[in-house]
Amino acid sequence: PKIIKLRKTDEGAEPGTRVKILGRVHRERKQKGVLFITLRDGYGYMQCVLSGDLAKTYDALTLTRETSMEIYGELWELPPGAHAPGGRELHVDFYKIEPHWKAVGGEDAITNKVQGGGDPKGLLDMRHLTLRGDTASAVMFVRDAVESAFHQAYKEIRIRKVSPPALVQTQVEGGATLFKFDYYGESAFLTQSSQLYLETCLPSMGDVFCIEKSFRAEKSLTRRHLSEYTHVEAELDFISFDDLLTHLEAIICRVLEITLADPSAAAHIKALHPEFTMPERPFLRMKYSEAIDWLVEHGIPNEEDQPHAFGDDIAEAAERRMTDVIGRPIFLTHFPVAIKAFYMQKDPTDLRVTESVDCLMPGVGEIVGGSMRMDDYDELMEAYKRVGIDPAPYYWYTDQRRYGSSPHGGYGLGLERFLAWLCKQHTVRDCCLYPRYMGRCTP
Ligand code: 4AD
Ligand code: MG
Repeated sequence: PKIIKLRKTDEGAEPGTRVKILGRVHRERKQKGVLFITLRDGYGYMQCVLSGDLAKTYDALTLTRETSMEIYGELWELPPGAHAPGGRELHVDFYKIEPHWKAVGGEDAITNKVQGGGDPKGLLDMRHLTLRGDTASAVMFVRDAVESAFHQAYKEIRIRKVSPPALVQTQVEGGATLFKFDYYGESAFLTQSSQLYLETCLPSMGDVFCIEKSFRAEKSLTRRHLSEYTHVEAELDFISFDDLLTHLEAIICRVLEITLADPSAAAHIKALHPEFTMPERPFLRMKYSEAIDWLVEHGIPNEEDQPHAFGDDIAEAAERRMTDVIGRPIFLTHFPVAIKAFYMQKDPTDLRVTESVDCLMPGVGEIVGGSMRMDDYDELMEAYKRVGIDPAPYYWYTDQRRYGSSPHGGYGLGLERFLAWLCKQHTVRDCCLYPRYMGRCTP
């Protein structure tokens, strides 16, 4: 009979067809002289059954996990309730293993025991192999779907994609976390955020977004800080602060909708985070000053172990405790000028605070930071002075306030934090391919 090459095991093929598949041994088990192999090809898993003489060859008897195989056989549909991926199995009649395809063995301990136990440092050193495990790869599949969903969601509302530079000479979020390097004898930085560049696109391109890497020399080790992370940023022209919040809520929910409409992504999310439900809209809106009161009422102290007071930074631990107790997405708004970035617009009704927002999610805390931008030239010059920034390298940013200013605002969303929330991962380190943080730049 005709052989169909199943390039991807998630492609449909009728029961009864003879197929050829290529992949790696994810698991194998022997039972009464029959060898069951779960073959993995990056698209799914296929249970392959080798019986009789096929199970007694040297290759079959010495088979190791992760070995690559070319397998031929007939597809069988299994009765409902059978424990095989996709309710089918392949009755193998021939297989081939090139000599150098054989894996050295022992990887099973790494690839399939990523969760629980295990030494995290060892697992991270072996990230190239742990990525082959069920959990690690499921998170990467969801990540792929979420990134596409952001593209689609922005396109649906006609926001254009741009690609700002990564090598820059201006800071955005403070000098303390800048990665500095020698740029042909001048000093330059790895970008902390594309925001300032996005702002320059508004006058010609309308609303814009980008999905680029941002870099932060974070000198502390936490479960939600990376040195290199993927930053989803958007900038919107002629909007009000309220428009910004409404947009943000809509984009987050639309991205979730698109992602969950993808059956494979939905299945992975279900497995990783069974109790996940779509957030209710509108998100809870809470002013910074109300959060301070909330923290005092709930006896959650600040970093000096004192009751929180207006003007304090809300540290990671306190923020997460509050978010976990409230148990739903929160828009935390109107942070004091002194603890926020120089470019943030002040609230005209209370000049102590800014038109700023952090979106907080249970289990993670802040996943988005955004604000309205200062659009007045004199005020911006004043702000540079306040934080001690030399305005010279910012001439191009300042010029936006000289050549047709506008009320505008935007935000940045940490993709790894979004995924940590969606996939219920303890740390953002498990939400990117090869995490970078203080002390780790390998593999
Ligand atoms: O709050 P941040 O620092 O805001 C900005 O960079 C703005 N300029 C963005 C903008 O308005 N266009 O960072 C935005 C988000 C955070 O909420 C967080 O999700 C993520 O980026 N983030 C990090 N993610 C992982 N590791 C880090 N070190 C991160 N720093 C920020
Ligand atoms: Mg922030």
